Amino acid sequence: MKRDTEEMAGNRSAQNIPLIATDPHAAYEHLREQAPACPIRSVEGSLMWIVAQYGGVRSVLGDARFANNPASVPDGKAPLLQINAMRRLGLDEELIPYLADTLLDSDGKEHSRLRRLVTPAFSARKVKALSPRIERLTDDLLDALPRVADAGVADLLEHFAYPLPITVIGELVGVPATDLPAWLRWTHDLSFNQQALGETLRPLIDHTHDLVRLRRAEPGEDVISDLIRARDADGDRLSDRELVTMVLSLVIAGHDTTANFIANSVWALLTHPDQLALLRDDPGLMPQAVQELLRWCGPVLVSRMRYATEDVDLGWTSFETGDAVTAALSGANHDPREFEDPGRLDITRQHSSRGEVHVSFGSGPHYCLGAALARQEAETALSRLLARHPDLALAVPAEELQWHAVSGMRKLARLPVRL
Ligand code: HEM
Repeated sequence: MKRDTEEMAGNRSAQNIPLIATDPHAAYEHLREQAPACPIRSVEGSLMWIVAQYGGVRSVLGDARFANNPASVPDGKAPLLQINAMRRLGLDEELIPYLADTLLDSDGKEHSRLRRLVTPAFSARKVKALSPRIERLTDDLLDALPRVADAGVADLLEHFAYPLPITVIGELVGVPATDLPAWLRWTHDLSFNQQALGETLRPLIDHTHDLVRLRRAEPGEDVISDLIRARDADGDRLSDRELVTMVLSLVIAGHDTTANFIANSVWALLTHPDQLALLRDDPGLMPQAVQELLRWCGPVLVSRMRYATEDVDLGWTSFETGDAVTAALSGANHDPREFEDPGRLDITRQHSSRGEVHVSFGSGPHYCLGAALARQEAETALSRLLARHPDLALAVPAEELQWHAVSGMRKLARLPVRL
């Protein structure tokens, strides 16, 4: 049944890629209502499947028969999509593992081994202990905002949404504050200047190796020093390459997503004055509001690719060994099968007692390591921003804001606000 739709894939990708960039919710709704698993073609022409219904997304992400690393599929049956894309961009072979061999690319025991080493640094207890520091940093940035504003207008993305999470993750991981502007540039170039991937990645990797050497010589109270000290149960240590890869992923994943989530949330509230008024009247709604904002405008639109390690029959569809499948998180979050009136932003929405029901942080073994930290940062940033600026408003009409949809993310180019 699923294979009958394969020939549609070529046309489908041509239709949907621009639509995903301009209106992701409409694009994923279109896919979600076509079939439980839709064929699409990557830019390079490989066939992949996209699952956009809530139940399908949960089941693919939670099923151990799907691997994140194509090398985990027997007999080389899975396409090396990510690695081939990097080769096409001319990336040196020695640099590829730093991007393609991360925690998110590992499976099974190897994934557990790596994840165990970093889990303690991002526990709910650790995040709670960090909250006074997050509040202080937020207040400092808010103090500075009027100084960077031009005639009362400031770009909130540049001067608030990015500096907060990069500083928090930098301090936590052990990146000196003076290096953070360079990290912001590298992250920007990794997203927006892929043709020069090697030129961006080489200095970033060299810099991170230097950082590890520095912490080896002068250990501190940070994640790099903890990782250097750590041995897992088998007495195994992380190699230098593994250490650098981990640090790179933590710093990049730890700020780019949160920054865009904070910006998307401010945009969502400013364009829904009724919801903003509710929140201003009852700031105690903030934790619930952040969960609803994650559902409604989470910045990560799709999961990393999964690969079927065997023939998998899920009842509602089947996959063959080596099939590449991605989960449309934003499609699932707007699925009327799961959420009543899903297009409505409703910060009082009662999410049943099952805990977090949206899938903006993924689901299953690769569930976001930094979810508690991201929620804490967003709650603090939004509460303090709204309290400090009772008349906050968009400085341009909402239709003029520009959106990027790069690497499966929904990002604003700028967020000019009137303070
Ligand atoms: C609003 C902010 C954030 C969002 C929306 C987000 C989203 C996600 C998603 C969807 C995944 C799973 C991807 C998949 O299964 O394919 C993920 C994984 C991950 N996230 Fe986040 N993230 C956020 C913030 C953070 C922060 C602050 C950190 C800091 C450490 C972080 C670190 C990671 C890591 C290391 C993984 C890989 C986990 C694993 O493979 O076991 N994220 N994130």
